[in-house]
Amino acid sequence: MLHRRLRIRTRLTLSYAGLVTGCAFGLKLPNLPFCIGFAAVLLVLGGSWKHLAARLLAGGIGVTPMLAMIAELERRASPWHMHYCTRGPARTAFLDRLRPLIAAGKVELHHDDGDPTRGLDIARTLAAFEVGTHVYFCGPPGFMHTAKASVSAWPPFNVHYEYFTAADDRTEAVNTPFQVKIKKSGEVFDIPADRSIVAVLRDNGFEIETDCEDGYCGTCITRYLDGEPEHRDTVLGEDERKRYAMICCARAKSPMLVLDL
Ligand code: FES
Repeated sequence: MLHRRLRIRTRLTLSYAGLVTGCAFGLKLPNLPFCIGFAAVLLVLGGSWKHLAARLLAGGIGVTPMLAMIAELERRASPWHMHYCTRGPARTAFLDRLRPLIAAGKVELHHDDGDPTRGLDIARTLAAFEVGTHVYFCGPPGFMHTAKASVSAWPPFNVHYEYFTAADDRTEAVNTPFQVKIKKSGEVFDIPADRSIVAVLRDNGFEIETDCEDGYCGTCITRYLDGEPEHRDTVLGEDERKRYAMICCARAKSPMLVLDL
């Protein structure tokens, strides 16, 4: 079988609008999971990051990727603050590790005992954009839904998030068959309702790197050149969706998608 290795472009698009420095620039980096990508941000921005602030919101085990961020922010003496939402002390992971930061006022705990109305008012917390600040959030679906709905005042470049599981708003989606065309070879493949683009391409000898296969890690990002994808991922921004699709989960609204492969 013809064996083709595809270089799956991964991405982390950073567009920092120069709110601090007064100049505008955009950066494209290889896509990396949320926390590693964050380290890449720091690496690329270098000293500039010192002038930026980070507001972190963690829900439950969503605190995990924040720990690496916190370590780097501390190392760089960058201003940051984290709201950490859990049911109660017994359900607060890494509590011992965070105690010094809680005492220093850098981490604020919010316990809701299972009732979100008793916990952090996320909408109020994120209501106003803070110039020079990037917000990062990670947590369970309800937490993510609220946080995403609360950042309308923030420029998209300054908002970063990661799902621990795929977003829960795809359960109603209905799969219909479509075709994909490979730009380089002109080959056309049928994508049946019960198979993903990735699965079909693999069947046909393509080697495609994936991780979550559920639209939330960003590993399988692929540029498309024609057609209209039905995006089902949780990582691409509106602008990116005009050029890229996560082919582990994307379907198509048009009869054919032309992939830049
Ligand atoms: S493999 Fe994770 S988004 Fe496609």
